[in-house]
Amino acid sequence: MPRINPSPHPARRWLPQLSPASVGTILTALVVCYALLMVTGGAVRLTGSGLGCADWPTCSHNDLIASASFHPLVEFGNRCVTIAVSVVSILAFVATLQRAPRRGDLVWLGSAVLGGLLAQVVLGGLVVLFKLNPYLVALHFALTLVVLAIAIVLRYRNAHADAPGELLVPRELLWLSRLQLVTLSALVLAGTVVTGAGPHAGGPGAKRIDVPFQRVAELHSTIALFLIGMSLATLFALHIAKAPAEVQRRARWFLELLAIQGIIGYSQYFLHDAAGIVELHIAGVTLLWCVAVAHYLGTYRRPAEQAAPALVRSDTATSRPAPVQAAPSP
Ligand code: HEM
Repeated sequence: MPRINPSPHPARRWLPQLSPASVGTILTALVVCYALLMVTGGAVRLTGSGLGCADWPTCSHNDLIASASFHPLVEFGNRCVTIAVSVVSILAFVATLQRAPRRGDLVWLGSAVLGGLLAQVVLGGLVVLFKLNPYLVALHFALTLVVLAIAIVLRYRNAHADAPGELLVPRELLWLSRLQLVTLSALVLAGTVVTGAGPHAGGPGAKRIDVPFQRVAELHSTIALFLIGMSLATLFALHIAKAPAEVQRRARWFLELLAIQGIIGYSQYFLHDAAGIVELHIAGVTLLWCVAVAHYLGTYRRPAEQAAPALVRSDTATSRPAPVQAAPSP
């Protein structure tokens, strides 16, 4: 059972204690901010604004704010989203410390979000310093997806008790879900190589990955078709195994999104990588990634988290409704 620390650190006593529901609200904001960052980061690259702010952390020389022209404004807008992400990441970590009951697993995940943020700040600086090196750009993209996944897991675990989960599907199908996640990761990594070899470098004169664009796009789409086949088989197997309706529903969403993403992918390929469609492709990846992680987490059922009794009492005393129920799982 989770414990409340009997003698909290003075800083913890000074800050308010938070119910799982309040922490859940901050974690929802965290997930939304990271998803937004994926899309605005894509907009920077596709409008060729990667070096719109040529310095870091200032935009140019001693100016913190961008001048009133297109590329600096797009890059500066993305940096503003980055600031929002940074603030919410720090808040999320503090929230895991102030949560009642406090849980070690959540504090660890909160620190991982903070560590991911620091790595992103350093990597972002290196991307500017190394003039949009495509490998660094790809790493930046992949790391954002990793932190987004950690944020989703953190939000899910916060909403549920720290108790062993009940597996809702046969063990073989759990492995199939894991294989789906691994294949999706391979597909995403191949996608970042296609981007690195493609025309949207993010700014003038940026180095490109030295592989034929068409070849690597073919490999990328082959992995996509393989994943579509695997996801269709998973859905069928879940149906045969009479898995709970919500598990089948999430598996169906994943397959539908994957098919839409495939159509977007082929359209962008045949329309010579039109920037607007590529942006749609990035938004699609973000949504697909969130649904994939939620689908995997949903293969287990865990009891909902309860607020600490002390917090329920103090909430009742101030006649606010007691946040006994945690935020819903993703
Ligand atoms: C169905 C699932 C798919 C997923 C999850 C996916 C994912 C991705 C990702 C993560 C990127 C890199 C984005 C970036 O670095 O900013 C990418 C790029 C790309 N994808 Fe896909 N993709 C899918 C299907 C397809 C298909 C079927 C094609 C057809 C050929 C395709 C064509 C491309 C192209 C051409 C790029 C490079 C875009 C650019 O120049 O920036 N994708 N994809």
